[in-house]
Parts: sequence; structure tokens; C-alpha cells
Amino acid sequence: MGNPMTPFLDLYGADFRSDPYGVLAPLRHQTWHADCAIGTAVLRYSDVQALLAMRQLRTPGAEFLAMQGITRGPLVETMRGFLLNADGEAHHRVRRLVGKAFTVRRVEDFRSTVAEIADELIDQMAQTEQADFVCAFAEPFALRVLCRFVGIPGSVQADVIEWTADVGLLFGFNVAQHIDRIESALRNLHGFIDELLSLRRCAPRNDLLSALIAAEEGGELLTDGELRSMVITLLSAGHGTVQHQLGNAMSAFMAHPQQWELLAAQPNLAIQAAEEVVRYCPSALLGVPRIAKSAFALHGVDFPSGACILPVTGSANRDASVFEAADTLDIGRRRSTHLTYGGGIHYCLGAALARVELQEALPRLAARLGDPHPTGPGEWLPPTEAVYGPIKLPIGYQPVR
Ligand code: HEM
Repeated sequence: MGNPMTPFLDLYGADFRSDPYGVLAPLRHQTWHADCAIGTAVLRYSDVQALLAMRQLRTPGAEFLAMQGITRGPLVETMRGFLLNADGEAHHRVRRLVGKAFTVRRVEDFRSTVAEIADELIDQMAQTEQADFVCAFAEPFALRVLCRFVGIPGSVQADVIEWTADVGLLFGFNVAQHIDRIESALRNLHGFIDELLSLRRCAPRNDLLSALIAAEEGGELLTDGELRSMVITLLSAGHGTVQHQLGNAMSAFMAHPQQWELLAAQPNLAIQAAEEVVRYCPSALLGVPRIAKSAFALHGVDFPSGACILPVTGSANRDASVFEAADTLDIGRRRSTHLTYGGGIHYCLGAALARVELQEALPRLAARLGDPHPTGPGEWLPPTEAVYGPIKLPIGYQPVR
């Protein structure tokens, strides 16, 4: 570490912001690791995969805030309560209980609702020949699916998601800029969730929230604090990720029109398409940083206890030693063991739901929106935010009504 020969990956630089894959490709070719603002960025598939599974590493949680100069206050308390930031037995306990409620079966039972939500939004889009794809589809689809799945009433969904998007800023690399927004969102969310939890306790429904309240193992239940944190985690982890993944996917398909036509003609490629867009243009580009719990060495480089490592999953997913024609979107790809959903104990809890959302949305969109093309410049979040993708994506298309 600290070797002057090690290249520097400027996460905040203009080049990385405008073309992250263009910056990562030559760097990955040159070296397996680079220094970056928060520690060491790891770039190649085999190393990223190994690091994600390594038990000597943990997620940073409050330290991630400390690295950005925030050492106390409600943000630090909130970060400590998130599943993603827990380790060892504390993580295992909550993940086990939550896993009793958030099952693949529950997700599969919900698949037809996901399809209905997609159809409703596409019906509206098909009334015109152009739209901002983010406003017309990606954002409302991700919002409605997640809120219905969790059990957030329709009347408050927009507010709740705005608050959770603000709380989600906690996982970005620019937290200090957003402190007031995050704190205000937390106050609103806590009040809302406490009220909803007491409603569901009195009258359970067929939603995830009721299932989380009831989840029990060996006489153990989730505490009120754990439930509150879990709801915030689910809402903030499950909305922007899917919204931006859909935006990235549409943008990638517009650059690869034959792939769109292929999906329209062969909707049975939906499962592969859902994996390929998550590999090729992930909404979680940088991955979640890890901290060394004890000193270790990798390829002769020593990492002391406390070292921060950034396993750049978006770079690993383009590693040509694992993926043939890695820089090409190919929904016919047989094996796509991308690392976008992470690995080890923190492997994305919502991956099954994200997959169903993409598998249902993408072929429906391809069947109904012919020849999608950009009609103006899109606007992208910087790759250093917690999620990466367009916030504006104007497109034109030939609707199939
Ligand atoms: C395309 C969509 C999604 C992407 C790209 C994504 C990505 C990720 C990543 C990178 C992690 C951390 C994994 C690690 O560092 O090892 C994660 C964890 C997590 N995700 Fe997702 N996610 C998506 C959708 C969802 C959805 C829909 C939900 C819930 C409704 C969700 C809930 C979670 C939770 C709760 C964790 C923390 C798990 C733990 O710490 O045990 N995610 N996700």
C-alpha cells in the first residue's frame, strides 16, 4: 500500500464521471489494483470475487461516514443499524429472521403483480411516441413494485420513496453535502414507519411488512428498532437500484438495437437479458467498500488491519478473462456470473425481486416500444453516488398499441 508506482483511480475526476468504463478498462489491463480516494480499488474479476467472500473483511458502516468527516449524530446511528453494515452474529441474526419473510416463494407469488404494473405503465407510454423513460417507466415501476411488495399504502408512496432516496444518499461518496436532506428524511420516515408497524400488528396483510413482524425463529423476533431499520433498508436499497438499472438497460439497448429486436422476437431470453444488463451496465457500479478486520496480503501487497478496499464490481464484470467480448451487450450470453449483486454474507437480499422486475419489464418493453432511440441528451448521476444511472433519458419509439 502507498507504493508510488501504484496508479491512481480518480473517482471524482471528470473522465471517470463521463466514461467510467473507459477509465477502468486500461487500468484493469495494466494492474489488479489502484489507489483511490477511500483506499485501494480492486479491478479484476477473480480478486473482486475473492474479496467479497473473504471473512477477514467487513463492510464499513459508520467508518465510511468517518472517512468523509462525519463522526457522530443521527446519520452515524442510522448507519450502525443497517443490515448491510452489520457483521458476525448481529448480521446473521437479522438476515436469518428477514430471510424467513423475504423468500423466493413470496417473490414468485408476486411475479404477476410485477407484470401488471409493467403493462399499465407501458400502455400509457404507448399512447405517445416519445417520453422521458425515467419519469414514464423506470421510476414509477420501481416505486410501485417495491411499495406493493413491502406493503406501503398507495397514498403515501411518493413521499416515502422521496425520503428513502434521501436516506440512500448515506451510501454515496458525497454524504457531507447532503446532511440536512438526510436528517430531515429520517425524521419523516421514522414517524411514518412506527405508525405503519402498529397498524400491521393489529391487522396483518399479505405483504412483506406483516411477514417481517411475524418472522420468528427459536422464539426470537425482530425488535422494533430492527424492523424500522429493515424497512428503511429495503426501501432505500430496492428503489434507486432498480430504477437506475432499468435506465441503464434502456440506454444500453438503444446503443445495441439488434439486441432489443432479439428480445422482442424472443421473450424467452428474458432471464438472460436480466442478467446481462446487470453485468454490462450495473446501477451498482463501484460495489460496497470493505474494511480489513486483520492484516492480510494479496499478490504480495500488504493490507494492514483497518485498510479500506473497494471491490469495483462494475470493472470485474467487464474482465475479458471471464467474459468473452466483455464490452458488448449480448443477451444470448450463456453464462453471466457477474458480481453486481455482491458476494459473501452481504449478497443482495433483494436479488430475487430485482431479477423478477427486470425479467418482467424488459421483454414487455421490447415488445411494445419499437426502435427506441435517444431524442436528446440524458442526464446521469455521478458514479460516486450510491447508485449509478440516468435521472433523465428522453427517448422516441414506435409504439405497439
Ligand atoms: C438491480 C437492482 C439491485 C442491485 C444492483 C443491488 C445491489 C446490491 C449490492 C451491491 C449489495 C451489497 C452486496 C455486497 O456488498 O456484497 C446489496 C445488498 C442489499 N440489497 Fe440489493 N440490489 C438491487 C436490488 C435490491 C432490491 C430490490 C432490494 C430489496 C427490496 C435490495 C435489498 C438489499 C439489501 C437489504 C441488502 C443488504 C444485504 C445484507 O447486508 O445482508 N436490493 N444489493
